Amino acid sequence: MSLFSKDGSADAALAGEVLAGARLVPRITIQAFCELSQTAQLVESAMHDRRMSKVALTTHNGGLEGAIETYKSNPTPNLILVETSLPPEQIPGALERLAEVCDATTRLILLGHINDVVLYRELIRSGVSEYIVLPATAQVIVQAITELFAAEGAEPIGRTIGFISAKGGAGASTVAHNVAWAISQHVRQDVLILDMDLPFGTAGLNYNQDPPHGLADALNAAQMDQVMLDRLMSKAASHVNMLTAPVVLDRVFDFEERDFENIIELAQRSTPLVVLDIPHAWTGWIRHTLATVDEIVIVAEPDLANLRNAKNLSDTLKSLRPTEAEPLLVMNRVGVPKRPEISPNEFAASVECKLLGQIGFDAATFGTAANNGQMLAEVAANHRSNEVYHLIGMHVTGRNTPERAASRAPALRLPPFLTRKRA
Ligand SMILES: Nc1ncnc2c1ncn2[C@@H]1O[C@H](COP(=O)(O)OP(=O)(O)OP(=O)(O)O)[C@@H](O)[C@H]1O
Ligand SMILES: [Mg+2]
Repeated sequence: MSLFSKDGSADAALAGEVLAGARLVPRITIQAFCELSQTAQLVESAMHDRRMSKVALTTHNGGLEGAIETYKSNPTPNLILVETSLPPEQIPGALERLAEVCDATTRLILLGHINDVVLYRELIRSGVSEYIVLPATAQVIVQAITELFAAEGAEPIGRTIGFISAKGGAGASTVAHNVAWAISQHVRQDVLILDMDLPFGTAGLNYNQDPPHGLADALNAAQMDQVMLDRLMSKAASHVNMLTAPVVLDRVFDFEERDFENIIELAQRSTPLVVLDIPHAWTGWIRHTLATVDEIVIVAEPDLANLRNAKNLSDTLKSLRPTEAEPLLVMNRVGVPKRPEISPNEFAASVECKLLGQIGFDAATFGTAANNGQMLAEVAANHRSNEVYHLIGMHVTGRNTPERAASRAPALRLPPFLTRKRA
């Protein structure tokens, strides 16, 4: 695509509309760092476009330097828009510094004042998603974002994380819901919880929600699409949406291996993080779902039956998905009084899984949270397990953890606006 097609003309806008179909931009977060107030106004006016209705935007001052400073201590959104008036020779250096503080999945659109095709090519080559020359129209900005996130063939934005217990009741659902909460709070990105335990699921209870529709309606819908998915999901908290389980026993829930595939795919197209709360069972659809998600977290209690099952799960999943991320382990309900237990480190070593964290047994606090339909952080903000949920959230979303920061290792993947350059 040439720089000169970005002139905001009606033709270009129309072409963009046709190219991207009538799709809405998914539930992404965008942060804009502008130098001029009219640029901030331009970005804000772009968000009034119908296609941006699900997007959450915040605008800040300070251009590239402002963005670098902000992301030294804050998580990065799905998309950053940055205005710069730096001379062309200084832009690559500033971008490198920005990339160092950005998460791997964050995309960048640069708004500049220099109309130079050589600069444009260099920026695109270095991984910047788009370079827009100012002054531009809101339409041009909408078009660039739509092409990036909603065009036919655009990469799905959602990362899928499946939680399953090694033995029923080990706490996979509790961990899944609290990790979803931690991600929504700390990363401030939208999370969609799918409660796949259709007859007995607890996502609704744990978030104190009883919506009229949920996952069963999505599975039964004759034609599922983005609009339908939006209609069926319910908002449980800020940045937390869910498709709840119907929790009825007037029918049985037997599924074909691929019955959930379409919904998971749609969910990934609309939400940055999809948390799958998977029941403790071993069916065709559970095996297939686990084989295809981005990350798997096995939740186990430190006893022998959990150990045997976790080892079986881990071995089977590793051979089912040899090139994908290995399953991760979370030990839960550790330290039940008087119970003889296997130490979490020994447990993890036998299962041959990375131990992401351990959560102590605390009947009073977890019982209160469950009874109130609240997350643990709402009941006990300073409870130790909140740190563990946060850490699990950071890890499964590929973000920097204190552990990685301490070893000075980079995030899981390099930010896209450096990978290509370094490759
Ligand atoms: N660390 C903990 N300390 C005390 N109680 C806990 C802890 N974690 C979870 N629980 C409680 O254990 C019970 C079972 O948890 P949960 O429903 O999350 O299990 P599960 O692994 O999802 O079960 P299943 O695999 O059958 O779906 C719940 O009542 C929950 O409140
Ligand atoms: Mg469960």
